[in-house]
Amino acid sequence: MGRTLLVTGGAGFIGSNYVHYVLGSQPEDRVVVLDKLTYAGNLDNLKSLVDDPRYHFVQGDICDAETVARVLDAHGVDAIVNFAAETHVDRSIADPDAFIRTDVLGTHTLLEAARERGMRYHQVSTDEVYGHVPEGASVETDPLEPRSPYAASKAGGDLLVNAYFVTYGLHTTITRGSNNIGPFQYPEKVLPLFATNAMEGEMLPVYGDGLQERDYQWVGDHCEAIDLVLRRGAPGEAYNVGTGTSITNMEMTQLVLETLGKDRGLIRHVADRPGHDRRYCIDTAKIRALGWRSRHTPQEAIRESVRWYVDNEWWWRPIKSGAFKAYYQEMYGSRGDYQAG
Ligand code: NAD
Ligand code: TYD
Repeated sequence: MGRTLLVTGGAGFIGSNYVHYVLGSQPEDRVVVLDKLTYAGNLDNLKSLVDDPRYHFVQGDICDAETVARVLDAHGVDAIVNFAAETHVDRSIADPDAFIRTDVLGTHTLLEAARERGMRYHQVSTDEVYGHVPEGASVETDPLEPRSPYAASKAGGDLLVNAYFVTYGLHTTITRGSNNIGPFQYPEKVLPLFATNAMEGEMLPVYGDGLQERDYQWVGDHCEAIDLVLRRGAPGEAYNVGTGTSITNMEMTQLVLETLGKDRGLIRHVADRPGHDRRYCIDTAKIRALGWRSRHTPQEAIRESVRWYVDNEWWWRPIKSGAFKAYYQEMYGSRGDYQAG
């Protein structure tokens, strides 16, 4: 028997990759996407599915309880997989309001709808909820110590999910993914920004010394893990998802340039992000015990992602020539150079 999934935020980066993964691998499944289409939502990400009768798109806000109820009931949804969120740390620093609204109140609205219907609920979260990890690797039982408005709002969502499991017995699960890279990632995030800037001969703005560490994982690996947890995850549990290996931003940047055959002279060290978490690193033993393996190292994921942006200019050129230009000017225009020490 196939499932009918409500994929909220399915027009964004990871959500759209997840929709492609589910419909590509499970012939019996149906997917309803509910997405507000903010600046980050893009129907081009789902364009190859428009003629698939198993796919249905609804434009709407996860904070709007009536819309959520209508969509769940009209389509006989079995489970909610929540990707919808404001996601960019730099935007959360400049203007946190939308983050609290969507990532906390939106999560609450979905949880209420799931509780009223006794519906399976999966929350897509992030390793950023653990905060800066000076050494070792975060395990799922570690305290949540978020430090940016984005991470704090995601942690708020995680705590609500846990409360709905404990208090109401709702069948919930959470995945905490590390930095995803791959097709359809909005070019505000570092990998598509650096790859497309380098292709355009623009500078690559590395924050601070660039020695911050991130676990860059292939988005397709993350999507497989989310679906596995949706099927086989234990109720009330959270699962870290990533390669388990973190590398520095300088190493990532050099790989991007190498893959494109571009010169290191394009690198510009700029003023650091306030409150920048220096290191994230996760222990992935728990998801591996469910039978999941990351299929790409961070280095393979970076090379493959860069090649996608080389092959898919049709996708990113219209984005970068639109409202993105004003965003880039505002975010980077007056950013000074990095002063060491
Ligand atoms: P994204 O910014 O590319 O996409 C977010 C999507 O949510 C967009 O389509 C947007 O239109 C939609 N959306 C925003 N507010 C909404 C609202 N109020 N109602 C309905 N839809 C709304 O984000 P992403 O990078 O694909 O991240 C997806 C999820 O995965 C997020 O919950 C994020 O916290 C989490 N996550 C991301 C990463 C990463 O590296 N990008 C890593 C781990 C976890
Ligand atoms: P980002 O893609 O914004 O993800 P996150 O902050 O959620 O981890 O950034 C990844 C890393 O790259 C992070 O350490 C910040 C750094 N970074 C830069 O050095 N320059 C940039 O222009 C951006 C956007 C990020």
